[in-house]
Amino acid sequence: MNDDQSSDTRTLCARHLQFAWWSLLCFVVLGITLEALHAFKLGWYLGPGAETRRLMWTLSHAHGTLLALVHAAFAFTCYALPTAMTMRHRLASALLMAASVLLPGGFFLGGVFVLEGDPGLGIWLVPFGAVALLLAVFQTACDVARRK
Ligand code: HEM
Repeated sequence: MNDDQSSDTRTLCARHLQFAWWSLLCFVVLGITLEALHAFKLGWYLGPGAETRRLMWTLSHAHGTLLALVHAAFAFTCYALPTAMTMRHRLASALLMAASVLLPGGFFLGGVFVLEGDPGLGIWLVPFGAVALLLAVFQTACDVARRK
């Protein structure tokens, strides 16, 4: 690897570490907010008819926090197994970022506008996020398997 390539790899690592810590902060704040909704026993979140909202926001919090940790794992993978930057790396990186917005964002929006017990239209972002995550993980797994 020449200097330009290793600087590209370092830039990619740094971008994912920044994404990891800032998004972990956002979703920990969401967790604390959910905790506060429990503390105040808000019917709007805990009452009858609010089950869908509670499920959606719990899923948003859980997926957001866990995906933030996946970004840290992705950065560690780039750092531990450095290699020349390829289109595959850039694509996996972009797909992982997209998944981390679409999955928790879709769950969150699905809970904001609940329609007669069904999640709101934002839930349609979730399957796109799932496909983006699947492709990012597949690309990264293939890439790691190829390295000696
Ligand atoms: C890395 C950090 C965290 C991770 C990975 C995480 C993960 C999760 C997961 C997987 C659930 C779903 C549990 C279930 O329904 O069975 C959950 C629920 C919850 N978390 Fe977190 N969490 C984190 C941090 C926090 C923090 C800092 C708070 C606030 C003090 C918090 C508050 C909550 C609350 C209140 C629920 C339940 C929501 C409800 O059912 O209404 N979480 N979390």
